[in-house]
Amino acid sequence: MKLKIVKDSDPIMRQRSQPVEMPLSKEDKALLDQMLDYLIKSQDDEYAKKHNIKAGVGMAAIQVGVLKRMFVIYYPKDEETVVQYQLVNPVIIEESMKKCALESGEGCLSVDENHEGLVHRHFKIVMKAYDALQKEDIVITARGYDAIVLQHEYDHLNGLFYYDRIDSKNPDKKLINEELI
Ligand code: NI
Repeated sequence: MKLKIVKDSDPIMRQRSQPVEMPLSKEDKALLDQMLDYLIKSQDDEYAKKHNIKAGVGMAAIQVGVLKRMFVIYYPKDEETVVQYQLVNPVIIEESMKKCALESGEGCLSVDENHEGLVHRHFKIVMKAYDALQKEDIVITARGYDAIVLQHEYDHLNGLFYYDRIDSKNPDKKLINEELI
């Protein structure tokens, strides 16, 4: 099966995804593997160009039309480390008062237009989930960019887009207690 990305014009994207039945089924694991594979390939310039796809660092199941609470993350953090997860039934158990936003704004595989402005996020979050890569329950403490990516994907599970978090009246206004990254 080839993955087809659902765009934000599709009303399904506003739906709330449902909890994934555990233990994880073979079908769900296979989908997570396909999603991760998609992200890895999307970051290969030549492949992305050839197949006319955007580079992505995260993808939620709903973005391929599956209303299940799971998403994958993949990006190189530095020369030696890659951040990669296949998170199932994630829950945010802590979030900082301190905020942060990407100076350049956010993007999304499901969103074709550019929505400029600061996307206000928590600077630090603690997330609990089952990780189908490590095959165990994990607790992730993430700050800055790492926390932003997790919150972006988590929002998809609740039918939200990054641009919902841009203040349309003051798109570039930094909040008090907000760090720009
Ligand atoms: Ni997205």
